[in-house]
Amino acid sequence: MITLAKLMKIKEKTLNEVGDKFNKNIELNSLEIRDKLRNAGVINPLSIEEYIARDGYLGALKASQMKQTDIIQEMKKSGLRGRGGAGFPTGLKWQFAHDANADQKYIIMNADEGIPGDYMDRIIMESDPHSVIEGMLIAGMAIGATKGFIYLRIEYPKCKVVLEKAIKDAYELGILGSPLFNTDFKFDIELRIGAGAYICGEETALIESIEGMKGQPRNKPPFPVTEGLYGKPTVVNNVETLCIVPQIIQKGGHWYHKIGNPETPGTKIHTISGKVKRPGYYELPTGMPIKTILEQVAGGMANGSDFKAVLFSGPSGGFLKKDELFRRTGFDTLAKNGVQMGAGGLIVLDESNDIVSLCRSFMKFNMKESCGRCTPCREGTVRIYELLKKIESGMGTDKDLIQLEDLSYYMINSAFCGLGQSAPNPVLSGLDKFRNEFQNKLYNFGEGK
Ligand SMILES: Cc1cc2nc3c(=O)[nH]c(=O)nc-3n(C[C@H](O)[C@H](O)[C@H](O)COP(=O)(O)O)c2cc1C
Ligand code: SF4
Repeated sequence: MITLAKLMKIKEKTLNEVGDKFNKNIELNSLEIRDKLRNAGVINPLSIEEYIARDGYLGALKASQMKQTDIIQEMKKSGLRGRGGAGFPTGLKWQFAHDANADQKYIIMNADEGIPGDYMDRIIMESDPHSVIEGMLIAGMAIGATKGFIYLRIEYPKCKVVLEKAIKDAYELGILGSPLFNTDFKFDIELRIGAGAYICGEETALIESIEGMKGQPRNKPPFPVTEGLYGKPTVVNNVETLCIVPQIIQKGGHWYHKIGNPETPGTKIHTISGKVKRPGYYELPTGMPIKTILEQVAGGMANGSDFKAVLFSGPSGGFLKKDELFRRTGFDTLAKNGVQMGAGGLIVLDESNDIVSLCRSFMKFNMKESCGRCTPCREGTVRIYELLKKIESGMGTDKDLIQLEDLSYYMINSAFCGLGQSAPNPVLSGLDKFRNEFQNKLYNFGEGK
């Protein structure tokens, strides 16, 4: 069994052993904040002792002395919104699951991160696996769940090794599977590996997959918080959401709420790829203008190329042009301007990038990943892909362009789940902002071209 005395003994011994390793200077941009990534590059992720030496599991200790409703209250005070893409308030989600009456409840950490260009969750799991285990423990205490699952995408073999070791060490120390800090609360975690389907990141498809079914979304409602895994109340939270929970409990909800944009408090880890000088991952306070992120954090355009657009959320996102870069990050702030912040991945394009070709390539991704359950998405992604291919090859007509737009709206309004509902976003955003690129590729019969 783990106790405070045991934690403190490990901390003291480890601090003596590591010397000044934790003081090493990690080169950061002056705009970066390291809350979620506080241990990244500092501790050895394979060492539970080093996590404990950096005050690891003190959040769980504090939570174990709190009432469930007080933990949830603290989460609500923090204003934390889920970082998996939808931005749902975490405290409220926990409240719903807490209030549901059941003999068994579950916590699931969604580590299926599959959007091209996004790898923030991978960085967290590879560098600080215990932060998410501790986050899951606290979520379990808050709602009364005794079992947790980590659903990890198969494409992350390093995360698998690191998580397996972390779970094993947490069991050996009596953090998992044993009464926690002199309470009678016990929590188990099982690691499940997905089979490479993007749709299994959608929470109900993920639940189906854990249950051994085909990974296809369920009807909502009922929502997982009341009827989730095996029909029991289930909280599904993203990796980036869970990793900050221990610090919120330790430092208090007010601490977190003060950071960043008040409608999406805290930080966001952005992964930036494409034509910038310094692509990579950056933890930044929300509310930062996109121009600042691209120029001051990512170093501006690489090789003197000319900026064309930035795309948020890859195959389900939208473009922002130069004159829109003053917009600030935050779920609502960006949505008001027609862009989904999603999980925070940014792809930067220069003048050499062809919008039609990019839309075609993203639609190919959606077409391959469509689970096939509903006709608008199963058929719609294929038809849109074919139209884009035709236009790209120079054989498209005005009629094709109209059909492309019609089909996109039809799919958004009739597809069953988020994948199909957002798959046409790049096309519609591309048509809205770069229509001339589509038109210039059309085959103009009347002009004998
Ligand atoms: C097609 C699709 C893929 C998704 N993939 C992920 C994913 O890989 N990771 C994730 O956390 N959420 C993903 N989501 C969102 C989840 O359904 C869910 O909203 C999220 O895990 C909730 O966690 P949060 O409240 O902490 O954000 C996906 C949604 C859709 C529609
Ligand atoms: S929208 Fe696409 S992914 Fe979602 S249920 Fe329909 S076919 Fe499956």
